[in-house]
Amino acid sequence: MGKYYETLFRPAFFRRDSERAHELGVEAMALLAALPPLRGALECWHRLGDGAHRPVEAFGLRFPNAIGLAAGFDKNARAWPAAAAMGFGHVEIGTVTALAQPGNPKPRMFRYPAQEAVINRMGFNNEGSEAVAARLAKQPGPGQRRIPLGVNLGKSKVTEIERATEDYLTSFRRLADYADYLVLNVSSPNTPNLRQLQDEARLRELLGAVTAANRERATTTGRVRVPILLKIAPDLTWPQIDAVLGVIAEHNLDGIIATNTTLARPGVFATVNEAGGLSGAPLRRRSTEIVAYIARATGGRLPIIGVGGIVDAESAAEKLDAGATLVQLYTGMIYRGPFFAAELARALVERQRR
Ligand SMILES: Cc1cc2nc3c(=O)[nH]c(=O)nc-3n(C[C@H](O)[C@H](O)[C@H](O)COP(=O)(O)O)c2cc1C
Repeated sequence: MGKYYETLFRPAFFRRDSERAHELGVEAMALLAALPPLRGALECWHRLGDGAHRPVEAFGLRFPNAIGLAAGFDKNARAWPAAAAMGFGHVEIGTVTALAQPGNPKPRMFRYPAQEAVINRMGFNNEGSEAVAARLAKQPGPGQRRIPLGVNLGKSKVTEIERATEDYLTSFRRLADYADYLVLNVSSPNTPNLRQLQDEARLRELLGAVTAANRERATTTGRVRVPILLKIAPDLTWPQIDAVLGVIAEHNLDGIIATNTTLARPGVFATVNEAGGLSGAPLRRRSTEIVAYIARATGGRLPIIGVGGIVDAESAAEKLDAGATLVQLYTGMIYRGPFFAAELARALVERQRR
């Protein structure tokens, strides 16, 4: 299937501007989401439920396989109901911010096919947490889904860094009822100052407030606490990662997502003059190193979602071997096609059997 995509469809897609091609991908998934018989047939074909895929249990949720669609593809929750039909075992929507915002001026997404990489500076373009909550209210809710749905939260651009916590709390209150798990994204490079939220004091304030709101919601509504994860940047130093892990432990967070895109410009990217976060193959090694570091530092007790540069079964297996419980991908799907997750899930099971 991947070969057909690469020879027939990819050239046509790649003739278009990369953001337009991405929008077409979202439209196609939204269409598939609206066609339950086709969706069901594809799900059967990928046999998500029958043991051809190895299920994973993490933070109280059951994932039919280890592979998820990373945040940034389905920012406004329009496409996710089709993700299971493409072979994904979970999907993360967002980043969603408290306020609707247009993001950075276009063009803001650039492909580098020879390197299987992308640079983006989208800047959290999204419809805002109120609109996204209204859409999620009309879609299958927790308990009615084929695969877990994560909701990734970020800070609105106009909100001062000192008021970031309030911004996240607003989105938390609007979206917690619809999320199987929530992610606090403090690591996108395209919102000015956002990454400062990874500093110990600011992070302590943010995690303290959101976990308190989560406990309060559980007490007042009688519902279970929503698992909360933190998504970090690959550009942190080891001491910075140690500090982040300390704050995560203080607040009993449910897991960590490593990593977001990088500001580093390794190899041929040294001369590429495009601002934004680099993803895909050039990020692979660094994000795996971070997964391995966290797994060692936490004695394997903190669930890790490994993401960055998964472009084949080898690179997915590498993250799991390094200690990730689950993995996610985005850029790999651009180069390998819509059923890349299904191919990977099968390849990983094969690999385990061998
Ligand atoms: C175009 C694009 C937009 C992205 N938007 C977001 C986002 O809104 N929130 C987020 O947490 N990560 C975002 N990411 C980062 C991905 O979720 C992922 O962490 C990163 O791309 C590394 O994985 P990959 O190499 O498989 O793409 C984006 C990535 C790309 C390529």
